[in-house]
Amino acid sequence: MKPIIAPSILSANFAYLAKDIEMINNSEAEWIHIDIMDGVFVPNISFGFPVLKFVAELSEKPLDVHLMIVNPEKFVNEVKALGAHVMNVHYEACPHIHRVIQQIREAGMEPAVTINPGTPVSLLKDIIRDVYMVLIMSVNPGFGGQKFIEHSVDKVKELRALIEETGSKALIEVDGGVNKETGALLVEAGADVLVAGSAIFSAPDPRRMIVDLKNL
Ligand code: DX5
Ligand code: ZN
Repeated sequence: MKPIIAPSILSANFAYLAKDIEMINNSEAEWIHIDIMDGVFVPNISFGFPVLKFVAELSEKPLDVHLMIVNPEKFVNEVKALGAHVMNVHYEACPHIHRVIQQIREAGMEPAVTINPGTPVSLLKDIIRDVYMVLIMSVNPGFGGQKFIEHSVDKVKELRALIEETGSKALIEVDGGVNKETGALLVEAGADVLVAGSAIFSAPDPRRMIVDLKNL
């Protein structure tokens, strides 16, 4: 199976965002990945809902919203208002992760749980049947353009085994330092969705890069 490609607009040129969204609309990417940061959960701030309202209007692809914020459950309605397909919350940001998953589903979105590089896959055992997707961070979240953490490939394999063991239907998404080289390792290990920011937006031909990532 070819992976789903979700370009991360964190690496887009924000002064010409419409142009970059247009590029994604006219590409073979399935989703648009949106990184929301609060300067508390991660040491950076990206963009918020007033900006994303316009991104959502322009996008013809489903939105994969990745919230790198504390108390993400406070924003279920705002994310829903964007028309998001997936709402990704961090395991580390939610003491009541099971409840948050239910809230996302009740709002009519697909719930996804994200784990940082330092968080083990084994912690997902009791929620793996309840999520649409697990996002494995392959860099510490907060910035684009960081170096891929190799151990993430083993985490994908471990998660694939957990999914098979439990009969879960969860998709495996990976985010951070994904390029043609690391992407190939991830797909082989069992990843279903690849997020890529700098690899796509710094490529001479971004749409070509999206095709290349799909055909790894
Ligand atoms: C990082 C974000 C990523 C980021 C990936 O915290 O979650 O989505 O945009 O960027 P690259 O692909 O450049 O590592
Ligand atoms: Zn992300």
